[in-house]
Amino acid sequence: MRTTSTTAPRLVLAGALAAALLLGGATTGPAARAAERPGQEHTLADLAQRHGRYFGSATDNPELADEPYTALLGREFDQITPGNGMKWYATEPRQGVFDFSQGDEIVNLARSKGQKVRGHTLVWHSQLPDWLTGREWTAPELRAVLKKHIQTQVRHYRGKVFAWDVVNEAFNEDGTYRDTVFLRTLGPGYIADALRWAHQADPHVRLYLNDYNIEATGPKSDAYHELAKQLKARHVPLHGIGFQTHLALQYGYPATLEDNLRRFSRLGLDTALTEVDVRMQLPATEEKLAEQARWYRSLTEACLAVRRCVGITLWDYTDKYSWIPAFFPGEGAALPWDEALRPKPAYHALREALQTPRRGR
Ligand code: G3I
Repeated sequence: MRTTSTTAPRLVLAGALAAALLLGGATTGPAARAAERPGQEHTLADLAQRHGRYFGSATDNPELADEPYTALLGREFDQITPGNGMKWYATEPRQGVFDFSQGDEIVNLARSKGQKVRGHTLVWHSQLPDWLTGREWTAPELRAVLKKHIQTQVRHYRGKVFAWDVVNEAFNEDGTYRDTVFLRTLGPGYIADALRWAHQADPHVRLYLNDYNIEATGPKSDAYHELAKQLKARHVPLHGIGFQTHLALQYGYPATLEDNLRRFSRLGLDTALTEVDVRMQLPATEEKLAEQARWYRSLTEACLAVRRCVGITLWDYTDKYSWIPAFFPGEGAALPWDEALRPKPAYHALREALQTPRRGR
């Protein structure tokens, strides 16, 4: 049914499918979904589970008031990442005073839908609270602050998140360490320390380093490979690398993605596509949307081809809530559902990729 090549019938089908999805009944978990909706299409999560993968979406607290949005979020995906609610500015707005209300809201929603949660993020140079950025710290002071932040948050979410983006965006494009308050004050050892502290607080949670522009092999991705190799050799608890996968049509598809995922697997690490979107210069045309769909298909196939690529997360699922237009003026239309929650060609491409039988490793 989805092998039609013309766009018009596809859009009609897409509209019908969106309506079907929006009218579907409540679910209690991905495994229950297909059974509860006999005769209806399997969701992306259902299809991904056949490959032993999850298929998720980021979400953000203000969006949860949008009922058609949350209905689709709860139905189509089996994994959720809070887009902002677990960041430092949100969880420790005053030094030593923790507020987990936003993260908890998302965890509770996910649990009610049988979805798992990726924790995002413990250590990042962006969206830090003013109390942290507004003064100088000695190394012992900042070390204590960092340890407390990480361990309080990881302990709070112990058993509730399956993975943490422990350190986010630690490298520059040329593979040098990013100049952050943590690097400047503590040196590059802050990364290993952060991983060890997180592991102490929850020995079962999967610990990741996460970054953008590492999908293709190159200096930044090489830096992660080298660091990961060193950390593994020193038995630092690192379990995976998150490839954010914020792609843009004008920069070309990262053709080495699959090989790159595989080389991290060979280090004994999981990988995941953690923040996927494929933006374009607006206006979106039929051709650009078709090209975007091919990219979504290819990145899904790349993950499915590598055994330790454990899942795919969209950085929200609808253009209605994408971060792109605010950050890249003139660009957008990056997600598989449009602003009216109608599936786009990219959605069908994802389904097609997930319906293809497994291939090699
Ligand atoms: O909370 C304030 C609100 O009080 C105010 O009224 C509003 C006015 O603009 O701003 C709100 O803060 C915004 C915040 O998101 C929460 O909505 C910030 O302006 C905005 O800059 C911030 O953007 C987030 C961005 O990270 C910050 O870098 C995006 O929502 C979020 O999707 C994005 O996510 C990052 C990942 O964490 C890491 N990888 C890249 C990815 C995209 O930038």
